[in-house]
Amino acid sequence: MKPATKLIHTGERIDTGATPSLTVPIYETSTFVFDSVADVIKYQEGKLNGYLYSRYENPTVVAVEQKVAAVDGAEAALLFSSGMAAISTTLLTLLKPGDEILCSAAIYGGTFHIIEDLMTKFGVERRFITLDDLANLDRVIGPKTKMVWFESPINPTLRCVDVRKVAAACKKAGVMSVIDNTFASALNQPVASMGIDLSMQSATKYLNGHSDVTGGALSGSKSVIAPLAKARRLLGGIMDPIPAFALGRGIKTMPLRVAQHNANALKVAQHFENHTALECVHYPGLTSHPDHAIAKGQMSGFGGVVTLDIKGGRDAAFRVFDQLKIIKRAASLGGVESICSLPILTSQYGLTDDELVQAGVSKGMVRISIGLEDASDLIADLEQALA
Ligand SMILES: Cc1ncc(COP(=O)(O)O)c(C=O)c1O
Repeated sequence: MKPATKLIHTGERIDTGATPSLTVPIYETSTFVFDSVADVIKYQEGKLNGYLYSRYENPTVVAVEQKVAAVDGAEAALLFSSGMAAISTTLLTLLKPGDEILCSAAIYGGTFHIIEDLMTKFGVERRFITLDDLANLDRVIGPKTKMVWFESPINPTLRCVDVRKVAAACKKAGVMSVIDNTFASALNQPVASMGIDLSMQSATKYLNGHSDVTGGALSGSKSVIAPLAKARRLLGGIMDPIPAFALGRGIKTMPLRVAQHNANALKVAQHFENHTALECVHYPGLTSHPDHAIAKGQMSGFGGVVTLDIKGGRDAAFRVFDQLKIIKRAASLGGVESICSLPILTSQYGLTDDELVQAGVSKGMVRISIGLEDASDLIADLEQALA
């Protein structure tokens, strides 16, 4: 089946009994009934295909996990109550005291802080590495390295990392490669087919796509996912059935949504590329982007996030932000509605001037998650704000 067909039909028709519903029902129950002690024993021995308790597994959640695995082209997937629950479960399960994680310095703030502030308490060592290091992992991976964690495209500069190259270097060294594929989504960037061991996504973003679910997802081979599923039972971060239902519904239209996000973002980026009020436009689909060649080699679409660097720096960016009429002032990305955030007040909040320079982030940056409105309305809104 092609992706559009797969995402609609995978995981559906789980109720084929007396109430054969077309769509996945919401199994809003904390626990499940057994007929006999024999059945409980069979369940515990893995011989009964049933459910015990919704912190372990829930039929609605399992059905949507099958959809996520289909999106990602992976053998298995797990859903979590947030992207951060997926990240914390991964780190706590796969790393132990004395292990080292190599993490891209250009990473989501929550990921940085959990590695820097929390994992170090458990004796996990970390090195934050540059894009240049990621391109030359052979010389960076050390004897204690167990995991490499990175993103591509990176927020808010949308710099890109050669995913196949990272996967190959990790494979050669026997190190686990983990990508946060939230910004691209697997429909644009199918990382499982590029040799990545584990893909993490904030399902809050493009997977759900309607800004009404907080969730996280992990996908990979069955052998990579199995210990994470076991640990999720203990750490307790599984997604609830109601958000899982909404997520499954969102995924059915994901190919349409992602294609339109890509098309709208490219239109906006191209329109503003040489605008006199801007220093530059950051979008990997533009030939002027420093990593356009890498992006072209691994992405079928360039995603929905565009960053404008406004001439006049911070004050000018603040004025543009306040003038927007259709595009809403809000954090996050990946929803049907266009939203806009200022990196120095969100993802890069509190960084010194030097740290901002190192991250390639300027005070005039305005990050826009381009939604599914008509692109001409978004362009008009940005034009009037810039004026
Ligand atoms: C790239 C990226 N990774 C992870 C997360 C964390 O996901 P969540 O907010 O769903 O916990 C976010 C949230 O903004 C993100 O942008």
